[in-house]
Amino acid sequence: MSTSAHLRSVLADALTEDGTLTDPAWRDAAETVRRELFLGSYFAQVTDSVPTGYLPVRQGEDGWLEGIYADRTLVTQLDGRVRPGDVTDGSVTGDPTSSSTLPSLVLRMWQQLEVEAGHRVLEVGTGSGYSTALGAHRLGHDRLTSVEYDPVVGRAAAAALKAAGYAPRLIVGDGLRGDPDAGASTYDRLIATCSVRYVPMAWLHQVKPGGKILATHSGWSYASGLALLTVTGPGTATGRLLPGYTSFMIARPHDRPPRPTLALLPGEERPSRIDPAVIGTWTGSWVAQLAAPAAERMGAGPEQILWDVSTGSQARTAPGPDGGWTVVQRGPVRLWDRVETAIRLWQAAGEPHQESFGITVSAARQRVWIGSEDGTGWDLPV
Ligand SMILES: C[S@@+](CC[C@H](N)C(=O)[O-])C[C@H]1O[C@@H](n2cnc3c(N)ncnc32)[C@H](O)[C@@H]1O
Repeated sequence: MSTSAHLRSVLADALTEDGTLTDPAWRDAAETVRRELFLGSYFAQVTDSVPTGYLPVRQGEDGWLEGIYADRTLVTQLDGRVRPGDVTDGSVTGDPTSSSTLPSLVLRMWQQLEVEAGHRVLEVGTGSGYSTALGAHRLGHDRLTSVEYDPVVGRAAAAALKAAGYAPRLIVGDGLRGDPDAGASTYDRLIATCSVRYVPMAWLHQVKPGGKILATHSGWSYASGLALLTVTGPGTATGRLLPGYTSFMIARPHDRPPRPTLALLPGEERPSRIDPAVIGTWTGSWVAQLAAPAAERMGAGPEQILWDVSTGSQARTAPGPDGGWTVVQRGPVRLWDRVETAIRLWQAAGEPHQESFGITVSAARQRVWIGSEDGTGWDLPV
């Protein structure tokens, strides 16, 4: 057995044992698809670096193959342009814009999508092509279409898929617009490996009623939740957030606009009615983002900063006297008022994890709710 085959088998065993791989057909895909064909060189994160440093791991060097089968997300592009091969000396910093998602997550998502033989599937975010290859192995080439936004990434994925012997239909373009050549109700399933601030209307028309959409909701505060929606009619869908902690890089057209360096400005001060640290927790940060979707969150613990670049509104918290907290707000949107109200509603519901939330989507409105469709909710910024 080659080293690669051995590492694939070890990974498949580990993912079966921990309950990730439950379907033998997906285990077969995990054991067959050689992830190294989709990576070449990749970036490794420099431990404890701030801002995060990325060191290229070159194809064939010591630890390269082991790193590929270590079940980690491997970044392959920074800032929409820098690839590992471009870095000739030391480490670099930047925002990850393409990667090969960790195998356990990709395989878990393919299973959560409840894909069946014969289904026609649209994937948004080809990236390295590894998840596409797993899908093509399981479904057959002619059932899968994958869209990648970045032409350089798309070309590399196409070459890798060809070398690996898979021939799904590949598109370079904006996957938020769906498949430009497909009509309405073409697909049974849609899976996105980039996240979205709201569900694109094209997806709701191209997936058949009864079909499913699996996508991560995220936003400008970097909080995320994975949702599985069922299309209920043309342009409508409903579903729930799933257990676990899933995040993906945001779809490029949904990313926040460029902003200047933060300048903290004076404003009105008052006591905070919530512990600001709660918006640093997984679900708390997501609830805060639902309440203030145009705000970026910075800071940590009791010292949180929210900044809405579209209006210039700011909120910043700090420990106050007597063990409490204060907030300073300025600008037309009282960001902390909104966040505080949302967090208190969530706390009144018992601070449930995201899996107690759902999303209902129509042409008029996209709403995230707690508990049931008629429960407390927030509109997404469509
Ligand atoms: C996390 S990576 C995908 C990982 C991939 N599935 C894999 O296994 O290698 C996300 C990808 O989504 C792409 N992307 C971002 N916005 C997109 C959009 N609007 N349409 C299609 N692809 C997009 C990025 O360029 C990036 O390559």
